[in-house]
Amino acid sequence: MRAAIEALPGSKIREVANAALGRSDVLAFWFGESDEVTPEPVRQAAAQSLTAGETFYSHNLGLPELREGVARYASRLHGPISAERIAITSSGVTGLMLAMQLLVGGGDEVVAVVPVWPNLTAQPVILGAHVTRVSLRPKNGAWGLDLEELLSRVTVNTRVLLVNAPNNPTGWTLTRPEQQALLEHCRRTGTWIVADEVYERLFYGDAPCAPSFLDIATPTDRLIVAQSFSKSFLMTGWRLGWLVLPQGGQDAAGKLLEFNSSCAPVFVQRGGLAALALPDDFVPALVGRLKAGRDRLLAGLQALPGVTVAVPPGGMYAFFRVDGQDDSLGFAKRLVSGFGLGIAPGAAFGDEGEGWLRWCFATRDLQRLDDGLARLRAAMSL
Ligand SMILES: Cc1ncc(COP(=O)(O)O)c(C=O)c1O
Repeated sequence: MRAAIEALPGSKIREVANAALGRSDVLAFWFGESDEVTPEPVRQAAAQSLTAGETFYSHNLGLPELREGVARYASRLHGPISAERIAITSSGVTGLMLAMQLLVGGGDEVVAVVPVWPNLTAQPVILGAHVTRVSLRPKNGAWGLDLEELLSRVTVNTRVLLVNAPNNPTGWTLTRPEQQALLEHCRRTGTWIVADEVYERLFYGDAPCAPSFLDIATPTDRLIVAQSFSKSFLMTGWRLGWLVLPQGGQDAAGKLLEFNSSCAPVFVQRGGLAALALPDDFVPALVGRLKAGRDRLLAGLQALPGVTVAVPPGGMYAFFRVDGQDDSLGFAKRLVSGFGLGIAPGAAFGDEGEGWLRWCFATRDLQRLDDGLARLRAAMSL
């Protein structure tokens, strides 16, 4: 095997989850998904597709009607985006890998804003690129960007700036002025922006979604935005996403898709079409439920002495630290084995997250959050 692959770290979240194997009493909040099942009309559409015998390959870029549907959906949120800029992918993570394959090769430099979901920073490494990490910084539990530092690290030698906002794990969300400054800077340095905006709708501010680079970029800017059906439509297990490419980028993406998945399964794409046809209030209602979970968990965490945490403006996670617990992996393992509480160690998101813990609040059952908080209190001997 290639040395770059051998050297990839294993998932620290899985390491904690493995400590709970065979136990049914663990309250697990470690993975990034809701406990709500995919909406019925979406499941029906996929089932009907299979019943109708849609078991064949589709176009590399996805069904034309799904590309059209995604373009209309994205245009409603961000202004006109043509279907010629859309590529359907077998998940957000595959879309991100495709974006990296399109842009970077051996020796290229990628600047990444961290801490971040580890898949993002592993992808360029797999391709032989070098990743420069620029860390968000916590202030009273809220993580923020040092814009000047990031601008100084992105130079003419930087091939890609990789930003995930709203951010997993911190919930940090780019502001419009920060986005504008980054876009203008990258235009000057000739750097591509790969924006992971899969949490854009899981936004608790005064807007239907978080600020997107698509709102301010032109169709010819060096920008690729990765999107997913997973989070906004409760479709994590379906593996469906899309890329918004610059004008003229679709042919290259189609070519590359052929060598990866060739295409997303047609019945899954039919599910995606049904998701886009859900009533307009579906996502806002989901966000309302997530917000209830967020507020319940955050109130509970903020009431604990020795816990540092801030209310996240986006995403589905509380990112917090407990005084005296600097080894997040060890602490997370003790929480599972001793108290049946499953949360993700901050170290899973890079050294910058060490000492912190990530708790996914995407549950319909607020009592589960209360029960989890009680277990944390017990672990802290409160
Ligand atoms: C930041 C971020 N990007 C992308 C994804 C990919 O989502 P999916 O591959 O399920 O579409 C995830 C999933 O957790 C994520 O947290």
